[in-house]
Parts: sequence; C-alpha cells; structure tokens
Amino acid sequence: MTSTATARRVPPMVDESMISQIWKVSTAKNSIFDESRAKYGDAFGMNINRGNFYFFAHPDQVKEVFTASPTALHAGKGNEILATALGEHSVLLLDESEHMRQRKLLLPSFHGEKLAAQTAAMERISEEVVAQVPKGESFHMRETSQKIALEVILELVLGTASTGEQHDQLGKATRELLEWIGKGYRLALSSVLGPRSRPIKAMYKPALAPLDRGIYGLIAERREADDLEDRHDILSMLLLARDEDGQPMTDVEIRDELVTLIVAGHETTATALAWAFERLTRIENGTEHLHEEAVSGEGEYARWVSQEALRLRPVLDFVLRRVMEPIEIGGYQFGEGDVLAPSIYLVQRREDIYPDPLAFKPERWDGVKPGTYTWFPFGGGVRRCIGMQFAMAEMEIVMRAVARAGVLLPVGPDEPTVSRFITSSPKRGGQVRFAF
Ligand code: HEM
Repeated sequence: MTSTATARRVPPMVDESMISQIWKVSTAKNSIFDESRAKYGDAFGMNINRGNFYFFAHPDQVKEVFTASPTALHAGKGNEILATALGEHSVLLLDESEHMRQRKLLLPSFHGEKLAAQTAAMERISEEVVAQVPKGESFHMRETSQKIALEVILELVLGTASTGEQHDQLGKATRELLEWIGKGYRLALSSVLGPRSRPIKAMYKPALAPLDRGIYGLIAERREADDLEDRHDILSMLLLARDEDGQPMTDVEIRDELVTLIVAGHETTATALAWAFERLTRIENGTEHLHEEAVSGEGEYARWVSQEALRLRPVLDFVLRRVMEPIEIGGYQFGEGDVLAPSIYLVQRREDIYPDPLAFKPERWDGVKPGTYTWFPFGGGVRRCIGMQFAMAEMEIVMRAVARAGVLLPVGPDEPTVSRFITSSPKRGGQVRFAF
C-alpha cells in the first residue's frame, strides 16, 4: 500500500462519534471547542453534518483563510440553509463575481457619510424605546434592543416613517417572520430536506407572504418618489444603485437584499447588546462608568464595552468557507468539499493575545485597535459583515441611551450561552434592572 505516502496532511479529527459531536455542539455550546483545542491544538476537525469541518484557533491560520482567493473558498454555500427565506439573490448566498456585484451595490449604503445621517435616527429611536422600559422592574435587554433594532431597520433600511399603517404592517410582518424562522426545528428540517425542496418552500410560503407583499408594495411606491437622492434609507439607495454595466437592481434582487439585511442585522445586534449588559452589570463600577459617560456625552467606554462583549461573547462563534479547489492552510492540505471554520470564539479567548482572557475588561481596549485576525466577530476578507459600522454605532447609541436613564444592576446568576436561531445568546436575554 502506497496511499499513506500521498495522503494529505489534515488536522487531527475529534475522536468522538458523529452523534456525540452534533449533540455537544448543539447542547453544550462551546465546551467541545474548548476541550478539542486543549487536546488537539490550534486546528482540529469534526465530522458533522455530512462533511468534515476544520476549526482554526490561530490568527495566522485565520489570515490565510480570509485572504485566500474567493474562487478557492466559498462562503455562500455555507449559508445555503437560509436560501428559502432570503432568496437566491441574497449577498449572503452568492459567491465569486455574483457575490461581488451584489456586495458592491450594497456597500455605498453603509459608507461613513450615510452612517452620520443614520445615527441621528438611531438616537431618537433608542430614546423613545428606552423611555417605555419599566423603571421599577427587571427587564430583558434583548427584548428592548430587539424593539430598537426593528424600528431602526424599518426606518433606516426600508425608509418607512415611524408611524402610520404601512409602518405598523411592515413591523408586524417582520416581527412575525423573524419569530417564525427563528424556531430551531425549522432550520433543522430545511437542513434535512434541503432549503430548495418543494415541501420546505411550501412551508415557508405563507410565513414569507405578508412581508414580501409589504416590501414589493414599498418598492413600487418608492420607484415613483421624486426625492430618492435626498433620502437616507437603504431601499432608496438600492433603487439608485447601478452595477459596473450601468444596470439597476431588479425588484426581486432588492427584495432579497432587504430581507437579508433585516435577518442579518436584527437578531445579531440585539443579541450583542444583551451580552454587553449581561457582562457589564457583573463587573465593579461597569454601569456607573457607562452612566457617567452617557450623561456627560464624552468618552470611549461604550465602544470598549461593545468590543469586549463581542470578543468574549461573540454572537456567531465561527464563520464558514467551503473549499472549492485544493488549498493549504497552516501547513495542512484541504480538498474540495471540506469546510474551513475560523473560530471567532477560540481566537478571541487566546491568552497570548488577551491576557486574563475570560475576564470581561472593557479597559483592555484603551488605546488598542482591534486586530483584523485577532478580533473578528464580524468575519473577514471579502465577506466581512457589511453592517459592521452600522451595528457598532447602534450598539454604542443604545448603550448610552439605556445608561442615561440610570445605573443598571444584574438580575440572577451569570447567564449561560444558549443557541437562538444561529446566534449564541444569553439564556435569559440579558436580564437587568435599574438601581432605583
Ligand atoms: C453585532 C451585530 C452583527 C454581527 C455580530 C454580525 C456578524 C456577521 C458575520 C460573522 C458575518 C459573516 C462574515 C464572514 O463570513 O466572514 C456577517 C455577514 C453579513 N452581515 Fe452582519 N453582523 C451584525 C450586524 C449586521 C447588520 C446590522 C447588518 C445590516 C443591516 C448586517 C449585514 C450583513 C450582511 C449583508 C452580511 C453578508 C456579507 C457578505 O457575504 O458579503 N450585519 N455578519
């Protein structure tokens, strides 16, 4: 036998049955990653979901993955399970030139100058929602931030005025759809039957219909508007966008990107905020410090808290890339069909990068810029989250709006991590109360 002489060098495989691996990943959350890193080192493989998944815990390996050619590694394939809801034109599902086209059409909507106009609306919405929080009782930060994130999306992504029938209808349709697709068993069913299979499409159709109706109605109406140039909402910007050949986006493309932004930007931001408060309320003087900054309007603490929360409790634990052609990463060789997973969770807990890594220390970011391959809660390379600055701005604004209303206290013990949709979320949604 000569096969060993030509065998590929791959990372060690986790030595457990597939059932046990899937069970641990879905129930015990990250314990299997901690255990595997301790046992096998910075790269290890798991045999889950009909294929080999390789996890990377070293920034050099992460850099190699994020800077690899987009023809060698595809991210769209890894997100296929979302195809039924997001649609075939979603930037999340595409690869190579099709992906770049959609991404380039979307990016101008998220540029700095647009963001400046968007933050004023974020501030107003945050103040309005925070004013409704019951002061004497405990509340779940995720619910409050979900309300804010939804209003932000309706106003800044779809451009509906904050009151009125159309706003209420779209809000209801969005809430119901997000609730509906958020049920884990539906994703599991899509995974088993395939997101493009007839039964799955039939199952999704009635759930998607109200939001689709609303969005297509809004697109038709907005196409007639004569103030598109002056508007700051993303729908208006997408209507004006042109690709390299001067072509505008079709209604279906716009619908798919809007639903993508709603799904990608809603739960993620709300969960990140829930974690920020869950952790902050458990350190000495944390919320006092934030309160002082919010009242004075000066300081960087809210940004440090956001960065630290996304480091220690990333909303997504890893990103996925499917290998399309043979590639070498970290001295290992991977072949077509393998899936590479830079582990946000493991890299951001490395002691050599973050001393005392399990401690929540916002001040560790004082004068420190997050590294591209050592802090990547928003992924990286040509697939890095389009909404990163939007989300960071929203987090800081919401945090200050909440903190202006008073000093917060934790409720109950530390919250363990549970899976919600595709996010890692605090079990009670970041339960807190004001200290009066
Ligand atoms: C704290 C909040 C958020 C987190 C943690 C987050 C995280 C991520 C991650 C990890 C990815 C995958 C990147 C990769 O594969 O390398 C991603 C992609 C994406 N995110 Fe976010 N995200 C957040 C908020 C948002 C917001 C607010 C929006 C838009 C309004 C958004 C829109 C997108 C889009 C469109 C993509 C796909 C980019 C592409 O494939 O080219 N995200 N996000």
